[in-house]
Amino acid sequence: MSHSHKDFDAEDQFKSGFDISYIRRFLGYAAPQKLYIILALVFLALSSATQLITPNIYRKSIDNYLVPLYTFIPSDHEALEKYPELSKVAIPAGEDAVAVPTSFLEKNKDISDSIKDKGENHYIFKLESYDGTHGFVYGGNWFVPDKEFADIDPALLTKIRGADITGLKRMFCLFLLVLAVHALSDYFHRLTLEIASQRTMYALRMALFEHLQSLSVSLFNRTPIGKLVTRVTNDIEAINSMLSTVAVQMLASAGMFIGSLIIVLYINWKLTLVSLAVLPFCVVITIVFRLIVRKVHRELRRILAKINGVLTEEFSGIKMIQSFNQQKRRREEFAEVNASYYKAGFKNVICMGVFGPILDLIRHFGTALIILYGGICVLDGDLTLGSLMAFITYFGHLCNPLMQISNQITQLQSSLAASERIFTLLDTKNEVAQPKLPVIVGDPKGEIEFKNVDFSYIEGEQVLKDVSFRIEPGKSIAIVGPTGAGKSSLINLVCRFYDANKGEVLLDGVNVKDWSNEELRKHISIVLQGTFVFSRSIYENIALGDPTITREKAIKAAETVCANQFIEKLPHGYDEVMAERGATLSAGEKQLLCFARALAHDPRILILDEATSNVDPATEHLIQDAIDKLMIGRTSMIVAHRLSTIHKVDEIFVLDDGKIIERGSHAELMAKKGAYYDLYLLQFSRRI
Ligand SMILES: Nc1ncnc2c1ncn2[C@@H]1O[C@H](COP(=O)(O)OP(=O)(O)O)[C@@H](O)[C@H]1O
Ligand SMILES: [Mg+2]
Repeated sequence: MSHSHKDFDAEDQFKSGFDISYIRRFLGYAAPQKLYIILALVFLALSSATQLITPNIYRKSIDNYLVPLYTFIPSDHEALEKYPELSKVAIPAGEDAVAVPTSFLEKNKDISDSIKDKGENHYIFKLESYDGTHGFVYGGNWFVPDKEFADIDPALLTKIRGADITGLKRMFCLFLLVLAVHALSDYFHRLTLEIASQRTMYALRMALFEHLQSLSVSLFNRTPIGKLVTRVTNDIEAINSMLSTVAVQMLASAGMFIGSLIIVLYINWKLTLVSLAVLPFCVVITIVFRLIVRKVHRELRRILAKINGVLTEEFSGIKMIQSFNQQKRRREEFAEVNASYYKAGFKNVICMGVFGPILDLIRHFGTALIILYGGICVLDGDLTLGSLMAFITYFGHLCNPLMQISNQITQLQSSLAASERIFTLLDTKNEVAQPKLPVIVGDPKGEIEFKNVDFSYIEGEQVLKDVSFRIEPGKSIAIVGPTGAGKSSLINLVCRFYDANKGEVLLDGVNVKDWSNEELRKHISIVLQGTFVFSRSIYENIALGDPTITREKAIKAAETVCANQFIEKLPHGYDEVMAERGATLSAGEKQLLCFARALAHDPRILILDEATSNVDPATEHLIQDAIDKLMIGRTSMIVAHRLSTIHKVDEIFVLDDGKIIERGSHAELMAKKGAYYDLYLLQFSRRI
């Protein structure tokens, strides 16, 4: 077995030496979707930006309209001279004090820090509103200390704060607008991203399917089919998250984290440091959790694969299981894997159940810290209430991306592993490689020649040994010999399902390696012992999509090989759709159908490998006529174990242990009294 086949079996974890080129190759498949990816990124940026804006709307609503506070400072304070912008916003508030907006101080930390002796916070209203009891009046303004605010008559408040209510309404509209932009950009981001990734997956699935189709039969003998199916379905699905996670979501999470961080630092860096004190705990717990969950998931996957294995064997072997009364044993076997799956699933649930609450706890603790320390700042006049509110929301925006990034890393790893498996499979060389410049033969005469051919499936176990022969165009030969002699293998070489290890297989004097597979197989029709019926209608099974095979031609072919008898008995005749693998037909009926298929395709070369082994002697006798007719004008190779069916061939090869030990016509070989003679006598005596 060549090394390359082991590689793509690599199990679900990706190895340390991951080849970065897989990502590049994946991006190569995604590249045609550039436009959608760029659009997705633009919409994503927009939706993130709107998300970052919303807390600021809360903040403005609270600070400007709900608690528009002013801080008192001494009117002779040196800061007023030092900072002209401060004196610009200052409102005279008595003989020895001025009032400046608290939000202004918050925005200009250096000014705020230079004023140590800040006074109380006040609301400022127009003099006309003065209720005569609370606060004091100065220079056309009514000053209400923060503490007395609650005592003012509510009816009066509503009246004098009309402007604030209008402001709030404006903020509400702005909020709605931002919300709408957010929702729309989020929708379009998801839509464009999904279009890009679905199209990429489509292209990858096609590429993988086409590649698998071209691979030699030997790969499919060696590789469990389920595994190949998984590559084309699940693994492509997994690799897809590479685009959505790597290219987009991680970027979004990182952007959200950094954006929020910058904003909270801007609002109040000390408070930021305090609140970030909980982040290391979040990070550590997330990492620990991820390690545990990865182990649990790996176990889950492993057991699931085992369950799938047990099920597949159960269903495909149901006949044997029932006939040997294996149900109880199989049930016990299933109960065992089922129990371990249950246990692993439970572990998973526990992990998830513990992790979420712990992280929440830490986050809430962080929020509590913010309220405590931020609250003190608010009381000190270093922070407005609105900023504190906004800060709490931004803190959430800081924590969420951390958790998301951890999930994304897990996803990224599994998509990297999938990409490795997919691309190694895409890289598997076709063992029957196609020639770069196939020789064009045009209309071949149908001459087959073997020149000193050696062949083995497994190194060291030679199946064909130095086989040489030539079949003239239009002649027919039969190959006889014991089971395992290499008859089917010889035919495999003619159709180039495999390549000879040594020597040459020639069709019309051209090595089959120099033919394009498509051209080569166009001229060969083959009927095997175990034939394959597609889950299509009978007619489609005969024509196989060849437009030159009309319905009439198909029916005529079926009649020639006596397949019409059973077909006509089917409820829908030639339109009857077959079950998977033709499960509802008998083995003999399937063979007849394949005879019709071979005949309808009118090949230059006809190959029958124990093709009549499943039909009864009477039917065999019937189709023998058809075969005789079929052979006229075509080169034919017939493997048969009933020697009575091969009287009419031009030459008979006796194959034994990979060597042609005798050849000649029936009469010659009988006269020779060698291996063929013995074989014949054996069958002849048994028949009687
Ligand atoms: N796909 C395969 N992989 C490995 N060994 C094989 C394969 N197919 C057939 N063989 C072996 O090759 C030998 C010849 O098989 P085959 O040509 O099918 O014999 P027969 O003459 O009965 O048609 C047998 O020993 C068989 O076990
Ligand atoms: Mg065989």
